[in-house]
Amino acid sequence: MRKKIVAGNWKMNLNFEEGQKLTSEIVNMLKDENVKDVTVVLNPPFVHLYSVNKLIGDTPNLFLGSQNCSDKASGAYTGETSAEMLASFGAKFVIIGHSERREYFAESNQLLTEKTKQALANGLTPIFCCGEPLEIREAGTHEDYVKDQLTESLFGFSAEEMSKIVLAYEPIWAIGTGKTASSDQAQEMHAALRSHIASKFGADIADNLSILYGGSAKPDNAKDLFSKPDVDGGLIGGASLKSRDFVEIVKSF
Ligand code: G3P
Repeated sequence: MRKKIVAGNWKMNLNFEEGQKLTSEIVNMLKDENVKDVTVVLNPPFVHLYSVNKLIGDTPNLFLGSQNCSDKASGAYTGETSAEMLASFGAKFVIIGHSERREYFAESNQLLTEKTKQALANGLTPIFCCGEPLEIREAGTHEDYVKDQLTESLFGFSAEEMSKIVLAYEPIWAIGTGKTASSDQAQEMHAALRSHIASKFGADIADNLSILYGGSAKPDNAKDLFSKPDVDGGLIGGASLKSRDFVEIVKSF
């Protein structure tokens, strides 16, 4: 069953008190709004995992996620955090391959395959990110570019493994810029990616795949984005740091 998902990516923001305040506000707002058919995920920095999970408690449809995991299971990898550790702290989701990690930390498609394996092996749902830079969009080769990201990272998995993965299409030129992709642009790419997944894994897997949009999604554009047939929710950056904005996006279906 294709899930509606709104995931907040806090990136490297919020100290302890700010993270506790934001999480408490979101928990209380979601309970008041009685949001039912949307899966909501908070993806704080690692240092917040324990305290945010405590506040999430048994809030219906609200889950803990993380922004990254190691491609290694355990061992002498200073500074790394394993998927097993994330799961032990209550995480159910993990963002993999965000464009900022691909760019700033040289994360290759092959490395992201290994990270995805670690996530799946530890019962985490990977939120696998893909998306093109502006120059590729302007060249008109964006669909092939993003399809290649999926082919190189995900096409070695089984259909059963692919059924456990969520995709997030984040056009790099829309991330943090205030320049959101139009809902038609998002729909066009999401449909192309769903078709690409179907070509490898079959129609059932593709039809049940949740594909999230990320890139300057805000309360004033989320309803239009989420109205599109192949947009199943959002991966939210800046707006996830404001409780009211984030919950308004959750209510936008
Ligand atoms: O992972 C979501 C993020 O890349 C989008 O950021 O600030 O454009 O919503 P923002």
